[in-house]
Parts: sequence; C-alpha cells; structure tokens
Amino acid sequence: MAFVGGVGAVKNGAAGALSSKCGVAGHARAVAGVPRVRSVRVAARGSDGVVAMAVQAPELEEKARAELKALYEKTPCMPIMVRLAWHDAGTYRAATNTGGANASIRYGPEIAHGANAGLKIAIDLLEPIKAKVPEMSYADLFQLASVVGIEFGGGPKIPFKMGRKDATEEECTEDGRLPDATQGMKHLREVFYGMGLDDKEILLLSGAHTFGRAHSDRSGFEDKPWTKKPLDFDNTYFVELLANNDPSLLRLVSDEALMSEEELLGLVKLYAEDKEAFFKDYSAAHVKLSELGCSL
Ligand code: HEM
Ligand code: HEM
Repeated sequence: MAFVGGVGAVKNGAAGALSSKCGVAGHARAVAGVPRVRSVRVAARGSDGVVAMAVQAPELEEKARAELKALYEKTPCMPIMVRLAWHDAGTYRAATNTGGANASIRYGPEIAHGANAGLKIAIDLLEPIKAKVPEMSYADLFQLASVVGIEFGGGPKIPFKMGRKDATEEECTEDGRLPDATQGMKHLREVFYGMGLDDKEILLLSGAHTFGRAHSDRSGFEDKPWTKKPLDFDNTYFVELLANNDPSLLRLVSDEALMSEEELLGLVKLYAEDKEAFFKDYSAAHVKLSELGCSL
C-alpha cells in the first residue's frame, strides 16, 4: 500500500526531509513552489536588556498557519494532526483538573501509550514548524495544526485562541484515559463525561472520522477509511454510517454506538442531511475539546 512507504520512511527518522523526496504527485506538488513565509521579528527582552521587536500573537499564528498549509500541500497529513490534537486534549479529567491540551503527549511516557501509536509521525512532521515559531507553545501548535488541517480539507473555519501552556514531563497522564474503539456508549460516556463533554459532543466529535483512516500497524484495525474521500472534511461520516452498504469502509464499535439510541440516531440523521448544521455544531464542540484544561 502506498502509504506504508511514508510510515516506513518516518520510522527511519527522516520525517522532516522525506516529503520533499516523495515522487507522489500530491506530496510533490508543493515541493516545487510553496511560497516561503517572510520571517517573523524575534521577540522580547534578552538577558542583556536589549528589547527586540515583540512578536505579536496574531503574527505568530499567521506564520504558523502558513507553514502548516505548506506542509499539507506537500504531505496530506491533516487527519493524523487532528488525531494528535485530540489525543493530547482528550486526556483531560475535570475531577482532578489534570491532562488536557498541554502537549504532554510529546513526552516518552505518554507517546508510548497504545492509543497513541503512530502519533510520533505527526509530532516529527511538526518539529520543523515549531523551530520556525519557537515562541508558540507545542500545545498551541498541535491544536492549530488540527484546526488548519480541517479547514484545508474543506471543513469549517474553527475559531482558535492561543495561550496554551506546555506541560512538564511530570504532568504526563497515566495510560487508559482515551476511549477504546471496541466498546459502546456506556464506555464512551464514562470517558467523555470525565472530560466534561456530553452525548451530543461525543457524537459531533466522532464526526471527525470523516477524515483519515485506520492503520493496521498503528491501532491494529483494518486499513480502511470511514468515507470514500478521507482527505475531505465534510459530513459523509454520518451519511456512510446510516447507509452501511460499503464493506470497503470502516465502522468501529464506537462508531456503531452512535446509532444505538433513538436520540443519538436522530442527530446522526440530522448531520447526514445538513452539512452546515454539522459544521456549526462541530466547530463549537471542537473548540471546547481543543481548550480542555486550559484557561484561555
Ligand atoms: C503513490 C504513493 C503515495 C500515495 C498515493 C500517498 C498518499 C498519501 C495519503 C492519502 C496520505 C494521508 C494519510 C493516510 O492515508 O494515511 C499520506 C500520508 C503521508 N505520506 Fe504518503 N503517499 C504515497 C507515498 C509516500 C511516500 C513515498 C512518502 C515518503 C517519502 C510518503 C509520506 C507520507 C507521510 C509522512 C504522510 C503523513 C503521515 C501519516 O499519516 O502517515 N508518502 N500519503
Ligand atoms: C469516540 C471515541 C473514539 C474512538 C474509539 C476513536 C478511535 C480511533 C481509531 C481506532 C482510529 C484509527 C487510528 C489509526 O489506526 O491510525 C482513529 C483515527 C482517527 N480519529 Fe478517532 N476515535 C474516537 C474519537 C475521535 C475524536 C473525538 C476525534 C477528533 C475530534 C477523532 C479523530 C480521528 C482522526 C482524524 C483519525 C484518523 C487518523 C489518521 O488518518 O491518521 N477520533 N480513531
């Protein structure tokens, strides 16, 4: 399978350089000519007391956005960025006010959790961008990569605020906070309610599976996407869930669970019919997820 080349190459530790070596039309497209972003003025007062021009948050965000778009032009890694941001934020537990969108996922103890298999690829792809916007926290960059990825894939423009603080390694969460794809609503409720999210938000956020696919060498699930166009962010996840007529598409137990109760099924039908309603409601749920554990 074509994608395996990418993963294998990344495993060899060359993520930063490899996309520029790809012969694939889609990947190579931008290598030829993504406009370079003009450099940002460097920030703040040095130890010598010299005050440089401050980098304003909007300017920093714009630079990071441009770099992310350039990455997506070369390498269609938008879905794995959405999964990275979600797995960082989804460790939040309201009861203890621990976890959340704090980039603790980048440390050894947390990236090694089974649920995070493959996400090192996403972090490695972002490191060169982080080096260009060192003033931006990893936590902000991970969430921005997701928001820009969704927009790049034709999805909603999700409001974004900067200001997340990076965790220390000691703040890594224990394994087992993210949901298990082989379980139904009872389990999903336990996990998402723990984050402070409700049934409708579980359903809306699961709609992000309109993007990307499973990788057997990461999660162990079959190498299948949820929709026929996994690089388009739209409402077809719900359309395919209802249609249930294409064996080439993936359906996890946790996806099926969204049709197991009348009220939830009503929402699946609503969002399958009305893309704009999905985009509007998804955006609000995504903002909430992306800010878990942060006071912005
Ligand atoms: C005909 C060959 C190829 C095609 C059609 C292709 C297509 C794709 C697609 C559709 C994705 C989206 C994510 C996914 O589905 O997993 C992807 C991701 C990716 N590809 Fe490729 N690709 C090819 C070869 C390569 C090669 C040769 C490299 C390395 C030089 C590469 C590097 C990557 C990377 C780093 C990602 C993003 C991270 C990930 O999710 O694995 N690809 N590719
Ligand atoms: C409801 C509970 C959820 C479960 C059990 C679940 C499970 C999974 C599994 C098993 C994969 C396949 C990973 C792989 O093999 O690469 C996956 C992929 C993915 N998930 Fe989820 N997920 C859930 C919720 C979410 C949420 C809330 C989001 C984002 C808001 C999300 C976004 C994604 C994306 C974009 C991918 C594709 C990644 C790629 O193509 O590389 N998921 N999910």
